[in-house]
Amino acid sequence: MNKRSFLKQMAAFGFASPFLFQDLDHWVGQVAHQNPEETAHDEEFWARVRSGYRLKPDYINLESGYYCIQPQETLENFIHHVREVNYQGSYYMRTVQWDNKRYIHEQLADIAGCTADELVVTRNTTESLDLIIGGFPWQEGDEAVMAEQDYGAMLDMFDLQALRHGIVCKRVSIPNHPASDEEIVELYANAITPRTRLLMVCHMVNITGHVLPIRKICDMAHERGVEVMVDGAHAFGHLVYNIPDLGCDYYGSSLHKWLSVPLGAGLLYVRRDKIPHIWPLYAEREVNLEEDDIRRLNHIGTHPVHTDLAIGNAIEYYRVLGPERKEARLRYLQRYWTSQLRDTPGIVINTPADEQRSCAIANVGIEGMRPGQLSSRLLKEYRIWTVAIDRVGVQGCRITPNVFTTTRELDVFVEALTEMAKDG
Ligand SMILES: Cc1ncc(COP(=O)(O)O)c(C=O)c1O
Repeated sequence: MNKRSFLKQMAAFGFASPFLFQDLDHWVGQVAHQNPEETAHDEEFWARVRSGYRLKPDYINLESGYYCIQPQETLENFIHHVREVNYQGSYYMRTVQWDNKRYIHEQLADIAGCTADELVVTRNTTESLDLIIGGFPWQEGDEAVMAEQDYGAMLDMFDLQALRHGIVCKRVSIPNHPASDEEIVELYANAITPRTRLLMVCHMVNITGHVLPIRKICDMAHERGVEVMVDGAHAFGHLVYNIPDLGCDYYGSSLHKWLSVPLGAGLLYVRRDKIPHIWPLYAEREVNLEEDDIRRLNHIGTHPVHTDLAIGNAIEYYRVLGPERKEARLRYLQRYWTSQLRDTPGIVINTPADEQRSCAIANVGIEGMRPGQLSSRLLKEYRIWTVAIDRVGVQGCRITPNVFTTTRELDVFVEALTEMAKDG
């Protein structure tokens, strides 16, 4: 389906989207002759992209890691959907709700490179991964491997399975600057024993932005009979990849992060042959779904269907902007500031320098300064909004620019860090 016919299809179901990203389409047309790396430093183009956002003038927002705000047109479409669902009442739910959901699944699957039958929309990464951790057929003594740098909610969910089913959770610690992919693969391989059943790994470590060699980890684990669940909270809509190419069994992400969907949307991918393997946490027996129907795992009841519709608009924005163009710009922005600070005395970059091991997100600290002090000085003295990270070998602020970030804003950030590091 081409990029416009999806919205036409939705319109046919009574769901027009009044905002169609026509300006963006026009601006993209003007840089169509450039490759993504060239466009990455075309400040005029990105200033136009920025004009599609409403940005709070009180601070420079370098904290898109929590979630990514929506461009105005996605937001307006979302508000339109809220109004329309309210206007139609249960008529919408009883007529086209599921057809529209199916279209959204197909469009998401298209970006994810999988089939619509292997993917469901959830509320967020936490829900996606917890459905797998909680529904996994654990037996007492089974082992699971994960990392100290993984997200707390998932670590807690594994700990809960330890209490409930008597599983053993083993945690590795990921170095901030590995010498090679093999160093990381080896780390996980060393934690595997004959009792290991499931390995969880972050596609992009949230506190440092470190991109891990997922395919190699999956291949290694599968050779040892271990299944792999990937926490892709920060990767979807950020990096360009196909989920099946990663070789994992399960993959979860939050669509309100890099796809810029309204808050409260995620995706869960389950490799088709693994679907019957997972216990549904919410039973769905009435409609007699086949064992390998992924909807078995996702009977969530009545939910904000207007958000589902806005996923379609966010996908549209992403496609018009261009996934490769977006990834190249995000990587350019990160490298723009890290390359200026990496060798500055007193400054510690907690993110690998290798291009392929990071994209938008990086983490920076100042020797002798607590991360909380750094983030609060950045806000108070320089009006820069970031988040402090102070755990598991990472002391610094996570810096996350977005497509609306300008290099001028990053100059202010670089000057601030240089000044603070000089002060000691
Ligand atoms: C690596 C990682 N996993 C999972 C999550 C949880 O995301 P959500 O709160 O959207 O479920 C986050 C949130 O930042 C994260 O960084």
